[in-house]
Amino acid sequence: MTSERTARQRHYLMCRPTHFAVDYSINPWMDPGKPVDADLAILQWEQLHALFVSLGHTVELIEGLPGLPDMVFAANGATVVNGRVLAAKFRYQEREAEGPAYADWFRTRGYDVHEPVHVNEGEGDFLVDEDVILAGTGFRTDPEAHREAEKHLRLPVVGLELVDPRFYHLDTALAVLAPGEIMYYPAAFSEPSRQFLRNRYPDAITATDEDAQAFGLNALSDGRNVILPEAATHLAARLAERGFTPIGASLSELLKAGGSVKCCTLEIRDRD
Ligand code: ARG
Repeated sequence: MTSERTARQRHYLMCRPTHFAVDYSINPWMDPGKPVDADLAILQWEQLHALFVSLGHTVELIEGLPGLPDMVFAANGATVVNGRVLAAKFRYQEREAEGPAYADWFRTRGYDVHEPVHVNEGEGDFLVDEDVILAGTGFRTDPEAHREAEKHLRLPVVGLELVDPRFYHLDTALAVLAPGEIMYYPAAFSEPSRQFLRNRYPDAITATDEDAQAFGLNALSDGRNVILPEAATHLAARLAERGFTPIGASLSELLKAGGSVKCCTLEIRDRD
């Protein structure tokens, strides 16, 4: 397999978990009765942030707002392709105000922001593989939003149906590693979607149940380094075999809200 992988410098947006908590439950991971160590959540997030910076990426920050405990999950804030921004529109009222907060951040910086009509949870359900957008539906993002993304972001969109509530966003079940290379958890998808993935990505890395349960697919690749939850050890081994450099991250506190590495990170794809 490929021995030399090249990293491309990325532009990310993150949100410090200053107001992070698990006060409500909108996915099976969230149990408001279970204690969350807020200081540890911040520390773990800071380590992730420092790691991105040490890898040479540019990381910008958006300020978290009180009353929006899930705002740390920047991936859901928007989708940005070639300088065009599709703002997010959240499924649940608890996160509704995050959409305008992220949209304002981009608008203030001069981006062309499209306000969505249909529900879409940003990069939680839209993953860009170079010249195509893989788009999840089933739990959060409306299929109509796929057409909206196609129009505004000007890339073809392929819909994928999620069927396991534990993997409610596409980025909990699939990660793009390099152009045309992905890893995913087949059981999270409907049979037609599985078939599509098998055909389009015959050499994809598939995750074990343990890897998926450890949120190993909620990973972020720069083309060479793949940051993923440290408990996803099988996936890390598969990645190393393919010439990637897996780097384990510990985000135990954020996992209590159903999020990890990728959820914390929105990629800003600026104009070419
Ligand atoms: N508690 C958040 C929710 O259920 C977690 C979001 C995770 N983000 C992601 N990109 N998968 O909406």
